[in-house]
Amino acid sequence: MTTILKDKRIVLGVSGGIAAYKSVELARELTLAGAQVDVVMTRAAREFVGPLTFETLTRRPVRTEVFEQWTEAESGHVSLGERADVMVIAPATAHVIAKLAHGLADDMLSVTALATPAPIIVAPAMDYHMYQHPATQANLQTLADRGVRIVGPDDGPLASGLVGPGRLVTTARLMDAIRATLGANGPLAGVRVVVTAGPTREPLDPLRFLSNRSSGKMGYALVAAAIDAGASVTLITGPTALTPHGEASVIRVETAAEMADAVQAAVQDADVLIMTAAVADYRPSSVAEHKIKKSSDDLTLNLTRTTDILASIDRPGLLKVGFAAETTSLLDYARDKLRSKHLDLIVANDARTSMGSDEGWAYLLQPGQDAEEVGPTSKAELAAVIIDRVASLLRSHPAADAAPAPAPPEGSASA
Ligand code: CTP
Repeated sequence: MTTILKDKRIVLGVSGGIAAYKSVELARELTLAGAQVDVVMTRAAREFVGPLTFETLTRRPVRTEVFEQWTEAESGHVSLGERADVMVIAPATAHVIAKLAHGLADDMLSVTALATPAPIIVAPAMDYHMYQHPATQANLQTLADRGVRIVGPDDGPLASGLVGPGRLVTTARLMDAIRATLGANGPLAGVRVVVTAGPTREPLDPLRFLSNRSSGKMGYALVAAAIDAGASVTLITGPTALTPHGEASVIRVETAAEMADAVQAAVQDADVLIMTAAVADYRPSSVAEHKIKKSSDDLTLNLTRTTDILASIDRPGLLKVGFAAETTSLLDYARDKLRSKHLDLIVANDARTSMGSDEGWAYLLQPGQDAEEVGPTSKAELAAVIIDRVASLLRSHPAADAAPAPAPPEGSASA
């Protein structure tokens, strides 16, 4: 799969904390995604993990010393940073954070950080007393003020035996931050996108609910694709087993009514609404206060229509994208929904094959145009195609009252 990471030059700075072993996984994930990863280790980091581990996974030499023998093509202690698309320092110890904040350059990692014009991501990991120390906090603030993206730390059990903030964030969270940084100047830079995902749950009694098979995968893939393109994204999600993108603002809801309220509020200052959620069309007319006990052989439920969220949103200038999940007459039903819900784009797919699957296959329909078939492919690829279409629709969209003009596509240049 092509991702924003393909052929990107990433410098991974590893400093000396026990969490250094976790950056091995990050190096592997980045390499698997097609990035060229150059690892720079401090002397202390080499006490925890051997350079050979990183060299084997990245198939690139690991830099450790400023005055190492350089090849003709890569001579100079600053060339690594100069050609990087992004530099990630994970884990970043309190000591390395202090050096970066004060511009010290006494080893290869700090020299590279000072020499690079690329955006820098810092993922702190340390004992929580060190993390909470005013000196560390001030240093992190200095870096943040300078435009460095600080990711984490997470809360939890620490190697010292203490529990609190200080854990290195997950590899997935770091991947999200790296992708968002690489995509920051993409075709949706400055655009605010609201994505809904997953099923809703309509309670029957304290134990039971009516729901559907939606996994949320399509919506979550769209969140990632929109962030790759530079958008700021709000995800409104029903219950799913997925971990939301670390760079999205997340609003969790259960019922169709909660989702309707959340969408109404979120679109007030949004440019695009993408509704992938499988919203329940009916809810139980009343919710039993206590567990419904079995009695007769048949049980009849009274159901009441829920609000059609997409149809009810009519903020001028908002670009509306819907999904149609059907089991028959796919294009006919999709065209009806495109018209009746006043959509700019609808994505039509077969509910039987798409729900829960990692595969994507769909038709894209716009008013007055022929349907375009996309796939079969992955949901990630399908999401990228949909986001591309959203970007071109925005460029031709009539002036929105709340939306700034989106930036022209510039690829994924570093800031
Ligand atoms: N949708 C919505 N609110 C609802 C139901 C659906 O906003 N109460 C949105 C979905 O998120 C999707 C689009 O409307 O983007 C079409 O949803 P779908 O379930 O395919 O169709 P319905 O409009 O519910 O019609 P039907 O169930 O009769 O096919």
